[in-house]
Amino acid sequence: MTELPKTMKAWVVARNGAPKDALQLKTDWPAPAAPTGNNILVKISHAALNPADMHFMLVLPTWLPFRRSPIPGLDFAGEIVAAGPDVSPELQKVGTKVCGSLGVSQVAFGKGSLAEYVQVPAELVAVQPERMSSLEAAGVMGCAGQTAAIMIKEADVQPGQRVLINGASGGVGSVLLQIAKAKGATVYAVCSEANAEMVKRLGADEAIDYKAHDPIEVHLAEKFKDEHLDFIFDCAGSQPLFTHSPKYLKADGKFINIVGGRSQGIVPFVRNKLVPVFLGGTPRSYRLLGLSPAGNLAREVAKWVEEGLVTQAPIDSEFSMEEAVQAYEKLASKRAKGKIVVKIQG
Ligand SMILES: NC(=O)c1ccc[n+]([C@@H]2O[C@H](COP(=O)([O-])OP(=O)(O)OC[C@H]3O[C@@H](n4cnc5c(N)ncnc54)[C@H](OP(=O)(O)O)[C@@H]3O)[C@@H](O)[C@H]2O)c1
Repeated sequence: MTELPKTMKAWVVARNGAPKDALQLKTDWPAPAAPTGNNILVKISHAALNPADMHFMLVLPTWLPFRRSPIPGLDFAGEIVAAGPDVSPELQKVGTKVCGSLGVSQVAFGKGSLAEYVQVPAELVAVQPERMSSLEAAGVMGCAGQTAAIMIKEADVQPGQRVLINGASGGVGSVLLQIAKAKGATVYAVCSEANAEMVKRLGADEAIDYKAHDPIEVHLAEKFKDEHLDFIFDCAGSQPLFTHSPKYLKADGKFINIVGGRSQGIVPFVRNKLVPVFLGGTPRSYRLLGLSPAGNLAREVAKWVEEGLVTQAPIDSEFSMEEAVQAYEKLASKRAKGKIVVKIQG
């Protein structure tokens, strides 16, 4: 059996705050122990960043006994270096390339992916699709692709339907767009002019520049006045987009949002879902989704990749391990075109 490392490089959250204040790079951090039960030890090659990482850094106390100097990061791609005795034969093979997203509780306990090694329950991973590099797999099969998967399940988009994606150029939107298109929908992608080319390359039928059409709701009301939309996917979190939706979303259409979930309390949920129409509620179906990362979702996205439904992995940028703070700063700007990925090693 290969000798396992005793120490590793890892970023840790030394105090709560923005990444530049919170993060410290350690070069001799204790590496995870040999995996037991149904766990695998993964040598991480790439970790993709998510807005949720920064939220944890900001609000989850670092002094809790189970969370001292936690390692951040949800998404990863890498190879198996050891497997526990209960792991399936497929994932017992050292060197198998896997990817996915860690459970939120694992990251809350401080065992995140911004490190050279991580121990992961085998059921959370997908084998990397051959059509994608590890860089791309970290970006697509993690939170972004998995969130796109739960959104598309909620909608059950049919050929010929008309869907609008707000925030189409981000990590989630860029995967969702490809799936909606592959399912035969007409896709309207809301993004800034700078990202119009990119979303068209991903398959959007039309890019709608929200900066040129401000407020966008007025533009949508005019544009879709004769033929309303079947679905609106909101990956940017716009309350007016929902409030005004009866002017452009069919009466039996659905508004599916991912911003303002658990991390931001229950106000948007109560306001949009529970306030009756006679008290000013909006007469449209509203869903606010929250992802619990899961291997079956990662594997579903991997299958889309293998089957050619998702053909592109928009990567905004790749940063080195030492540049993780700059990578988070880019993410915090909310101007990423696809995923921001940190190359951990290899
Ligand atoms: N509920 C969940 O489980 C869940 C899971 C994953 C993500 N999320 C949340 O979903 C959101 C999107 O995640 P992500 O990973 O896709 O983020 P991201 O990659 O950081 O999104 C960046 C993109 O957002 C676009 N954008 C920024 N402001 C916009 C606006 N006002 N209107 C339209 N587009 C705008 C930018 O495009 P332009 O430069 O063209 O404006 C940029 O391409 C985040 O708030 C994240 O926290 C929630």
